[in-house]
Amino acid sequence: MFPTISSIAIAILFLSNSCLAAGPLAVPLGTAANFAILAESGISTVPSSAITGNIGVSPGPATALTGFTLALSPDGTYATSTQITGKAYASTYGSPTPATLIAAIADVGTAYKNASGRANPDHTNLATGAIGGLILAPGLYKWTTGVSIGSPVTISGLATDTWIFQIAGGLTIAHAQAVILAGGASPANIVWVVAGTVSLGTNSVFKGTILGATSITLQTGSSINGRLLAQTAVALQVATVTKP
Ligand SMILES: *[C@@H]1O[C@H](CO)[C@@H](O)[C@H](O)[C@H]1NC(C)=O
Repeated sequence: MFPTISSIAIAILFLSNSCLAAGPLAVPLGTAANFAILAESGISTVPSSAITGNIGVSPGPATALTGFTLALSPDGTYATSTQITGKAYASTYGSPTPATLIAAIADVGTAYKNASGRANPDHTNLATGAIGGLILAPGLYKWTTGVSIGSPVTISGLATDTWIFQIAGGLTIAHAQAVILAGGASPANIVWVVAGTVSLGTNSVFKGTILGATSITLQTGSSINGRLLAQTAVALQVATVTKP
């Protein structure tokens, strides 16, 4: 028997859905991918936060990691904290940590330039930056302003699909609002590249890697499945950060 035209069409649809990732080329994070949080000037926590993944500050010193009650490792190359399932690194710890951090921070800079430098967005200034309530398909999104999330927003696509959100202003999500994933969308494939400050409101739920040109603040009870890669400081207030 020959397959019918419609069965061929269904097979092609199935193949294109299951085999081809939609959305932009992945942003190369380099060694920054090994960290849940990286910052240049400091990382603070109001206890008790819960971080799954490593954190690092450079060129800021170990004294720029505040609120963690750190215990230095016997070899002096990292520290631990009851708030971190992973290790804390600072530029003033023993070798090879300073060089590892210089490389990771450089990779954050490269990733920021890569993500913010992508041309030909699929969507420009969608909803004038008020994206609550939208369902966002894979793609490159660009805003020449800030972006605010005032009600739940859904990122929908397959596990291999990708999203880049280029934001020229700040990024905020309001109290108790959420970024929701649908269809298998992975937080590892979502990148927010933000020129302004980032603030996740109290009890909010966020997803994806944030590349921030300045500071990132997680207010009380907020959480992110993703990474915080800031070019100034990261401030956690009883927050949860889980590296994907
Ligand atoms: C981003 O990185 C990818 C992979 O290394 C590269 O192919 C692409 O040209 C880069 N894009 C920009 C805008 O830097």
